[in-house]
Amino acid sequence: MAYETIIVEVEDHVALITLNRPDAMNALNDQLLGELVSALEDAQSNDKVRCIVIAGSDKAFAAGADIKMMSEKSFVDVFGEDLFGPEAEGIMRIRKPIIAAVSGYALGGGCELAMMCDFIIASDTAKFGQPEINLGVMAGLGGSQRLTRFIGKSKAMDMNLTGRFMEADEAERSGLVSRVVPVKKLMEEAMSAAAKIAEKSAIATMAVKESVNRSYETTLREGLLFERRVFQSLFATEDQKEGMAAFMEKREAQFRDK
Ligand code: HXC
Repeated sequence: MAYETIIVEVEDHVALITLNRPDAMNALNDQLLGELVSALEDAQSNDKVRCIVIAGSDKAFAAGADIKMMSEKSFVDVFGEDLFGPEAEGIMRIRKPIIAAVSGYALGGGCELAMMCDFIIASDTAKFGQPEINLGVMAGLGGSQRLTRFIGKSKAMDMNLTGRFMEADEAERSGLVSRVVPVKKLMEEAMSAAAKIAEKSAIATMAVKESVNRSYETTLREGLLFERRVFQSLFATEDQKEGMAAFMEKREAQFRDK
């Protein structure tokens, strides 16, 4: 499918989706988010794809929702269309692992999009922020919810109330990102992490994603029970037999997603 605001490349079981609105720092508008969800759904239904990477440019992952597009909207407009709600739900429905490769600005909806991914690998030039307060509004896609769970109340309040940017090293210290690498190495690192994930059993990686995400939705006791049951259910797969046999036979496992 031909897209105008994103570039999609599928290679070696990894779908790389690059946000591509360079004149607007990859600001998120209806078209970009619509195309992103459509590309993610394609990746979800494409058997060749085992992991997904979402990236921006060196300068900006995404500098937020498109302010020009939002500036004239009324409450009735944004509530009526549930601005970006269906797209966020669409991203959350993807069951394959998604890595965000973040360089430069990840602000507002850009930071929130990165947080919707399963983990974030950042370049040393990355800058995260929820500066919506400077526009007279507030975060609307997870900046007051996911960010608080990821980095704690004090830092999340600080970022949402002051609108300050957080550099990559603080983001790593705070648990917002999993790794920080030099900007030149970012895509290599993200693609190699994706390739590593692509080697695993796709049934097991989907189970991991579901189980870790469950920890944000439920109590510890329920989450632990869910995890134990999913762990036990994986013993119904051929991949469990293969993975354990390969370990004992001191060879690489050949997973078949069965
Ligand atoms: C529309 C944007 C944009 C945005 C940048 N641009 N961010 N356009 N929406 N969010 C455009 C600029 O207007 C400009 O276009 C071009 O990108 C380059 O930006 P500059 O400002 O000239 O670059 P620079 O001085 O380097 O500053 C970069 C920046 C700054 C720090 C990222 O652009 C900035 O503060 N942007 C806004 C960040 C923000 O407030 N994000 C939150 C948005 S609200 P022209 O045509 O002038 O060259 C949000 C809500 C989410 O995200 C919830 C939705 C439900």
